[in-house]
Amino acid sequence: MRKKFVAGNWKMNKTISEARQLVAELQPLLEPLHNIDRAVCPTSLALPAVADMLADSEIGVGAQNMYWEESGAFTGELAPAMVAEICQYVIIGHSERRQFFGETDESVNRKVKAALAHGLTPIVCIGESLEENQAGQTAAVVSRQVRGGLADLSPEQGAKLVIAYEPIWAIGTGLAATPEDANAIHRDVVRPALAEIFGDDVAQRIQIQYGGSVKPDNAAAFFAQSDIDGALVGGASLKAAAFEGIAKAAAEA
Ligand code: 13P
Repeated sequence: MRKKFVAGNWKMNKTISEARQLVAELQPLLEPLHNIDRAVCPTSLALPAVADMLADSEIGVGAQNMYWEESGAFTGELAPAMVAEICQYVIIGHSERRQFFGETDESVNRKVKAALAHGLTPIVCIGESLEENQAGQTAAVVSRQVRGGLADLSPEQGAKLVIAYEPIWAIGTGLAATPEDANAIHRDVVRPALAEIFGDDVAQRIQIQYGGSVKPDNAAAFFAQSDIDGALVGGASLKAAAFEGIAKAAAEA
């Protein structure tokens, strides 16, 4: 049985003091939910403060991005060792990074390898655009992203991954995929692609989150699906009560 995993992607929100405030509210609400994995992903500037607060907590901390090089002249970037010093997770290849910052399956692949080499759990994001969805290309796009982003990894490395399927048209729009449609992508496209790369045993163990307008009132329907193993939550992770609602739905699924 795969554990459910609920992670909050705060994106470019919350100053350091606001991040502290949110974690202070969130921690007592999430800490008791021992049967699920949970994590928050603040901005890199707020990471040290949040990691300090959650040092003895079961709640994991993740970065939203990092570079693949070890160190050096890469102005503005974070090295894997810097992230690994205070984080357990790192989001890789979020659609906003692909859309606005030129990330590709190849850069995702380099980052995933660097994250694994530093003991981080990558949360690898995949998902099709509205145009691709309407053109019936979802399965092709998603399998290409899985194969490209996870190229040349061993089954041992594969077992350490988390995947987040986030259809771009569902992100921040209030227009979530239906739980049945999302599950069909997880079960019939993503997991079979993982099985081809890593073998069925490993593929069955990998948590596949859904992301895109997950809220407290639709979360349970997603978590009731066979192959939806949690959620990567944007907007609703910025309010303690809303994120708690989603985490509770996962804990009760
Ligand atoms: P929303 O939950 O705001 O739709 O964002 C989803 C997302 O992009 C999480 O990474």
